[in-house]
Amino acid sequence: MSKLTATVGSALGFLVVATLVALAHGDVTPHPVDTTGLPPLGKEWVAANPYRGNDKAVALGAIGYLHNCAGCHGLNAEAGGMAPDLLLVAKDCVGMGSQKLQSDCFKDTDDYFKGLVLDGRKNSEGRETMPSYSSVFTQEAVWAVKAYLDQRTVDESKPK
Ligand code: HEC
Repeated sequence: MSKLTATVGSALGFLVVATLVALAHGDVTPHPVDTTGLPPLGKEWVAANPYRGNDKAVALGAIGYLHNCAGCHGLNAEAGGMAPDLLLVAKDCVGMGSQKLQSDCFKDTDDYFKGLVLDGRKNSEGRETMPSYSSVFTQEAVWAVKAYLDQRTVDESKPK
């Protein structure tokens, strides 16, 4: 095999592998989330997710989740083992003694969620394990996706 053929061959091999990896992971390029119709929140970050329990936000968040997160965290937020199970993040909040305790608990997970989604996370070698969404996600987008996940958490806890 000539050097050129070898180079082209390995480049093609790389493309095939890259495509397979891309398919296995889904599309991981951050996509903006359409939050048209939700109450606008402005630039200042609010302390707690104002959309929790809002049906429209849950529906829009589900689409945002599907486009951005499902590839790694699983369809319907049912983890396939590649990335953490997002239904565990606020799991302990469901079933707390009072509405007040429950909503304080969800609020605590909001902050953690927001930080992680905006900044992403790198492993100890500096390789990105969880992408950062700060370049495309508005505040409305972050809270709509969280509203969807919280709703899924509540639904999962109901007896089947
Ligand atoms: C390329 C794969 C990938 C994509 C896409 C992705 N994540 Fe992650 N996510 C990860 C990995 C891997 C971790 C674990 C990171 C670590 O701890 O090093 C993680 C961690 C998290 C955590 C922390 C979970 C916990 O138990 O502490 C949250 C919350 C999260 N992701 C939310 C999201 C949301 C919301 C989206 C979509 C907007 C998203 N992720 C998209 C791979 C991904």
